[in-house]
Amino acid sequence: MPARTSSNRPKPLTTSRGKSGRPAKTNRPVPAQAIRQGKRSAQPAQKKAAPIKAGQGKAGQGRAAQPLKLIAKVRNKIAPATRKTTKEVKQAPQAKKAPQAKKAPQAKKAPQAKKVVQARKSPAQRPPIATTSGTPQPRPAPDSLWVTVDQYLVDQLVPQDPALTQALHDSAAAKLPNINVAPNQGKFLHLLARIHGAKRILEVGTLGGYSAIWLARALPTDGKLVTLEIDPKHAEVARANLARAGLSHLAEVRLGRGVDSLAQLAAEGAAPFDLVFIDADKPSNPDYFTWALKLTRPGSAIIVDNVVRRGLVADPTSSDPNVLGVRKLNELIAAEPRVTATSVQTVGSKGHDGFTLILVTG
Ligand SMILES: C[S@@+](CC[C@H](N)C(=O)[O-])C[C@H]1O[C@@H](n2cnc3c(N)ncnc32)[C@H](O)[C@@H]1O
Repeated sequence: MPARTSSNRPKPLTTSRGKSGRPAKTNRPVPAQAIRQGKRSAQPAQKKAAPIKAGQGKAGQGRAAQPLKLIAKVRNKIAPATRKTTKEVKQAPQAKKAPQAKKAPQAKKAPQAKKVVQARKSPAQRPPIATTSGTPQPRPAPDSLWVTVDQYLVDQLVPQDPALTQALHDSAAAKLPNINVAPNQGKFLHLLARIHGAKRILEVGTLGGYSAIWLARALPTDGKLVTLEIDPKHAEVARANLARAGLSHLAEVRLGRGVDSLAQLAAEGAAPFDLVFIDADKPSNPDYFTWALKLTRPGSAIIVDNVVRRGLVADPTSSDPNVLGVRKLNELIAAEPRVTATSVQTVGSKGHDGFTLILVTG
């Protein structure tokens, strides 16, 4: 991730300048949680957004206010009482939304964006998530604004090609769960591998091979990707997707329990790998990290996905095995002198989560 400097730091969304040239009041983005809880009216930001909704302030607001105008419209469309899943948003005719939505350029772009974000199940259909109280709750849909921004970013920067789109299509057709990395995350992995000059990549958790395609495409012609998968159907779909992408000669899908395959790789002398991507069952993250350390070298990178889990990672009382797996992983990393690491939160079409980047130093 690029370092934030005064030159590239995003401007406050709603900062505008008055006639004096001094900055007017700055409105902070409303936290997604507050939006979910219906606290928008309690936020000063929404009070400032109101004039835009009413079509006022055109003369008084500078160009810096224009992004707010678009975002306020999106946010207005996702008021708590009317929040919809992506699927529902796709199905709902735009014209029936708030009047200002008719004018919003985003409304016209929506059909194009449909291509890159798979339809999400309604909260009732999604698998339940464990909570700290132990009571399963419906998994919340990602914030609609995050999805909209992800669609925009993917449209601009992550062109899709038939191999990638067909991999997602065939994975869905085979009823694989929709838990692959998002397109912009896949490309992020691809770029990391290229920046790192990785020749040997190890992935734990293949699913339908979507992230494997992104990673294998970063390899040189004599490179190698080994990706580990426990589910035979997932492995079969992944092999077909990698073959269609023309990557079979670079990518090997190994069937079996991750820890068993990792031990096998060590026994074969397959190490060292330059980059390891850990994205399988989260309770095993501590084991995967321990094995990754054995299978890498100083200078290798280890990336672990889904380490924030809607913020639950910061809850010390959580009994969710996935959260416990991440928390234990963090303890291992913190106590391990041979690595240095950071974690970054992410929001987008996959919700609120994050990844950890680990550099093996010794
Ligand atoms: C989040 S998905 C991987 C997504 C994939 N990396 C992508 O972005 O396209 C996790 C995968 O790990 C597999 N998995 C779960 N437990 C496993 C285990 N113990 N060993 C190996 N794979 C496992 C699941 O079957 C699933 O396919």
